[in-house]
Amino acid sequence: MPEYQYLDKAQQPASTGDMDPDAFRAYAHQVVDWIADYLTNVESYPVLSQSAPGDIRRALPAQPPAQPESMGSILEDFERIILPGITHWNSPGFIAYFGITGSGPGILGEMLTGALNVNAMLWRTSPAATELEQVTLDWLRQMLGLPHPLFGVINDTASSGTLYALAAAREALPLHIRQAGMAGRSEMPRLRYYASQEAHSSVEKAGIVLGIGQAGLRKISVDDQFRMDVAQLEQVIQEDIAEGWQPFAVIATVGTTSTTSIDPVPQIADICERHGLWLHVDGAYGGSAAVDPSMQWVLAGCERADTLIVNPHKWLFTPIDCSVFYTRKPDVVKAAFSLVPEYLRNTQGTGEEMPNLMDYGTSLGRRFRSLKLWMVMRYFGQEGLAARIREHNRLGQLFAQWVDESPNFKRLAATPFSTVCFRAHPQGLDDEAQLEALNERIMSHVNAAGRFFLSHTKLHGKFTMRVAIGNLRTTEQHMRELWNVLQDALAVELHINK
Ligand SMILES: Cc1ncc(COP(=O)(O)O)c(C=O)c1O
Repeated sequence: MPEYQYLDKAQQPASTGDMDPDAFRAYAHQVVDWIADYLTNVESYPVLSQSAPGDIRRALPAQPPAQPESMGSILEDFERIILPGITHWNSPGFIAYFGITGSGPGILGEMLTGALNVNAMLWRTSPAATELEQVTLDWLRQMLGLPHPLFGVINDTASSGTLYALAAAREALPLHIRQAGMAGRSEMPRLRYYASQEAHSSVEKAGIVLGIGQAGLRKISVDDQFRMDVAQLEQVIQEDIAEGWQPFAVIATVGTTSTTSIDPVPQIADICERHGLWLHVDGAYGGSAAVDPSMQWVLAGCERADTLIVNPHKWLFTPIDCSVFYTRKPDVVKAAFSLVPEYLRNTQGTGEEMPNLMDYGTSLGRRFRSLKLWMVMRYFGQEGLAARIREHNRLGQLFAQWVDESPNFKRLAATPFSTVCFRAHPQGLDDEAQLEALNERIMSHVNAAGRFFLSHTKLHGKFTMRVAIGNLRTTEQHMRELWNVLQDALAVELHINK
């Protein structure tokens, strides 16, 4: 990449300013060219970085640079040292965890966000950052088929959003915890919240952070499709009340991390209503699918949620980080978090037209994340976004069908979206320890080859491979190639072990 190796005017000894504008323009063009080439040729890199632990650290000097260095040599080191340590999430072969895409319009949005460098903590610290966030999230609300009004803010991650939701749920209790805390209060009941065994680990972490403790989370069993068992939920709430616990929230998931199962939100909402519990829905992955009107059923019941999360950085082609947090009760969220020292008081006044985003979470500083989401939504439009989600779901169903038709592979969960859970299970091989070792070796073999990156989970104790399609470059051709690679890997394993 480097063409220019000179030190620009800003790097001369007398200068105390920023990069020289001409140098910036030249390097910016170079970087943009690099990005365009990278995105075009992303398949030429091994998807999973082949670095060994410590490789990158050892290649970098232990001492900080004392003297200016040319941008040319910095960019050269980016390619030579940093790039080999990159796992290529933007590759069509990335189908581990949840496949994602930093799309063209999203990358352009990030570039402009970096250039503006605004901190959207208060309305006045950039009115456009606050107001675009409100407008963009109202557009997304409409795209998802959710009712008006719904207040939204963008956080870094779903993990933060779930923490904030649970903090708001705790604030809604008449226990004055914000002011008096929880420790050492003899009148304080022990708090309980509920989520399925399949809920994301961030649900448990939130309880740890909030002082509710791991014992405060009761994990509810799931049915044969990995959905929360609502009869058990009702039963354990009643048991807990009888034993003196104070139930306060239920977290339902639309698109669980392992299998993408969808909890029965309408029935869970009924239970929450009966017992006066806060309902939080984690739709970090599955929620985005509702931009396709034929998939809006996945959010059934979510209009009754107190808080709801959808992550555009998972399946709406928006670069990390961008996690949308919706609430029907912004006043409660604000009551949990707002704390305004004099130096942050808005002397221009307050009011609905002037929300201060710092009031809805722990962070004061906020990136201008709505800009990239706005660009993604406008560039693709709802129809374009829906068409892409539909294609991913089609590829997921197709892959599931190949697995179902194969005598050597078995699907281990339903496939409501574009994520397929399966394992090799050749006829006549039923020993669980051998099956686990076989599948681990197949996955390692596929990942080491560099074309694809798969990850795994455990379902009913069985090692399970996952194919999670979410990258805009992944095509049917890639899926066919992956299917062949998996079958070849199995054949090699069976041959070796004959
Ligand atoms: C269902 C679900 N919730 C929450 C998360 C956490 O997301 P984040 O990385 O935005 O915190 C994930 C991550 O995969 C997830 O699958």
